[in-house]
Amino acid sequence: MVYCVLVAAGSGERAGLGYNKVFYPLGGRSVLSRTLDALGSSGKIDGAVLVINPSDEDRYKRLVEHEGASPLVRSVVYGGATRFHSVLNGLKALPEAAELVLVHDAARPFVTREIIENVISDAEKYGSGVISCPVTDTIKLVVGENVTTPERSRLFAVQTPQAFLTKKLIEAYDSAGASGGFTDDAAVYEARYGSVHLSDAQSARVNFKLTTLEDLEMAEMRFSGTPRVGTGYDAHRLTEGRKLILGGVEIPFEKGLQGHSDADAALHALIDALLGAAALGDIGKHFPDSDECYRGISSLELLKKVSKLLADEVFSVENADVTIVCQRPKLAPYIMAMRQNIASALGLDVARVSVKATTTEGMGFEGAGEGISAQAVALVRGYK
Ligand code: CTP
Ligand code: MG
Repeated sequence: MVYCVLVAAGSGERAGLGYNKVFYPLGGRSVLSRTLDALGSSGKIDGAVLVINPSDEDRYKRLVEHEGASPLVRSVVYGGATRFHSVLNGLKALPEAAELVLVHDAARPFVTREIIENVISDAEKYGSGVISCPVTDTIKLVVGENVTTPERSRLFAVQTPQAFLTKKLIEAYDSAGASGGFTDDAAVYEARYGSVHLSDAQSARVNFKLTTLEDLEMAEMRFSGTPRVGTGYDAHRLTEGRKLILGGVEIPFEKGLQGHSDADAALHALIDALLGAAALGDIGKHFPDSDECYRGISSLELLKKVSKLLADEVFSVENADVTIVCQRPKLAPYIMAMRQNIASALGLDVARVSVKATTTEGMGFEGAGEGISAQAVALVRGYK
């Protein structure tokens, strides 16, 4: 079996966030979850030991609550004062059946299937497979006042994952004593066995480690997703004996909108705009009026369900704009309450939610007071 020791137990000093960088959200999902996603989606890893900083215990619990537990994680152990000690603690927690181990930094969420496959097949062949990249910058060696230029073609930058036969790596760690002066696992292995096998992959170029705030900003750009727009339209008939509800606000009027739910045309248009932006169908598909459980339901509840659906599909909502076409009553006094309802259902700042109302100067069914219609536009971001 192939296992991963995923080290996340640093404190991310250089990123200067005031908390461990592996919890930084990239496009709404933490670095740690994204790294676990990448490892899991390779289909090559059977399980992982996650090494966390004891002071991140609560933060990790919240992450699991909000982002879900990775099916890969079999155990969670505490790290130590240096990366060396964190890896060592992870290695100790590996199950007997893990013949091959990949040590990986949680701070490298861009690891690819190609990289994982290559280090695994090299470790099977040579006992070790360490992902590396020929350096493209000219490197200077500075010793005191003396600056020299090593031949660039002989220089390789190494990254993680680094794959090893588990027994051999554990032995190397054991014989390294408690020194902790190693910055990667390959160095520990070299100290015991002389040399490692360097693996390559085209995608190693993008497998950079998030170290500084600038790295996080660059990574955020890659994960912020593509903007996608959606539109929605709805109209309901005005009838006596019904409450008038628009944007989740009950508006005093002699008539209300007829429909299976609360017939909130404004929210229905908005729901269709959101579903449309994500290409997830329409309101009728998700909440059919043949289903009794939606009879009389508040459309704000439906909007919350749609918000969760979008989040599950990794779409984030940027903003929404709704126009209600209504001759009477005057909606101006209720607009702010509608915006607040929508913002809270979508988990957005109210400044990102617009609701407007207009008349048609007496023209059409809205002008005649037969019904009310609404149009909406929403912008979401997604990775599809
Ligand atoms: N790491 C660890 N235990 C430590 C130190 C580091 O598990 N005692 C992990 C980090 O969480 C990271 C990886 O090793 O995933 C690479 O280390 P680095 O990029 O140096 O992260 P930090 O040590 O957290 O950052 P900094 O050095 O800026 O404080
Ligand atoms: Mg460090």
